[in-house]
Amino acid sequence: MFLRLPRLASVLCAGAFALAAPLAQAWGPEGHAIVADIAQQHLDARAAAQVQALLRLEGWSRLDDIASWADNIRKERPRTGGWHYVDIPLRADAYLPPRDCLLDNCVIAQISHFSQVLADRSAAPAARLEALKWVVHLVGDVHQPMHTVDNDDKGGNTVQLQFFGRGTNLHAVWDGGVLRQALNLMPGPNYTFDHAQVQADAMLLDASIRPADRAAWSAIGAPAQLSAQTVAWAMESHRLARDVAYAHLDGRNQAGWSARYQAVAWPVVRTRLQQGGVRLAAVLNELLGS
Ligand code: ADE
Ligand code: ZN
Ligand code: ZN
Repeated sequence: MFLRLPRLASVLCAGAFALAAPLAQAWGPEGHAIVADIAQQHLDARAAAQVQALLRLEGWSRLDDIASWADNIRKERPRTGGWHYVDIPLRADAYLPPRDCLLDNCVIAQISHFSQVLADRSAAPAARLEALKWVVHLVGDVHQPMHTVDNDDKGGNTVQLQFFGRGTNLHAVWDGGVLRQALNLMPGPNYTFDHAQVQADAMLLDASIRPADRAAWSAIGAPAQLSAQTVAWAMESHRLARDVAYAHLDGRNQAGWSARYQAVAWPVVRTRLQQGGVRLAAVLNELLGS
């Protein structure tokens, strides 16, 4: 009895956790931290000073401290749930706001909105800090392929599968499964993770960006062009979802599928994290610099 009880309790807890698990966490906290860490490295002096001043309002020191705040407050603010993604139908080849972003309830519209608040020097500091939290998080989300697509499956959340021996779903594989497998990361309880390890991995990812790619990704134009840029990033994600994430699902019940899927998915995840980080720095430099 004493031996069995803890086991029973842990089974019940696991079941409760599965039921309570939110549909989507966006990139897991490690992915958002990597985007934030890469961006932090490339802020210009003025943007870095303003970022520091805003973070200090709540005692934070780094962008990765706030990168997953938007996921952590999701339960308290259910109205914000739709801001993390944009459901562009899998077979569509363009983003149509009336179809995909009704009432600005999508990641593309919210990046524009919070960028404006962040850039507004007359806005209240607390509102600008919150806007910074959203911009850091959502620029990450829009680079996650499964956050820009829908195939009547809630962005892959209802596509159940086994990945390296664990029951999960297609969306979660792209939020964190591929990244954790590649970098051998172990998530802790309550979305905690090893910041030092993730920072070290982020620096390696940053160092391996080719200069020509970095220059191309950084050329984001003036703030007025930001919404066009955001749509372009979302469409890149959408194409990757179609051509990689959904295209390689065949044979997912066969031996060796996870490793084959990992081999095509990891290079994509890696590049999207690098692009997210470089572009986030460019956005912050544009909104807060010069
Ligand atoms: N819920 C519905 N569609 C979603 C998506 N594309 N990403 C995350 N959560 C979703
Ligand atoms: Zn998110
Ligand atoms: Zn997600």
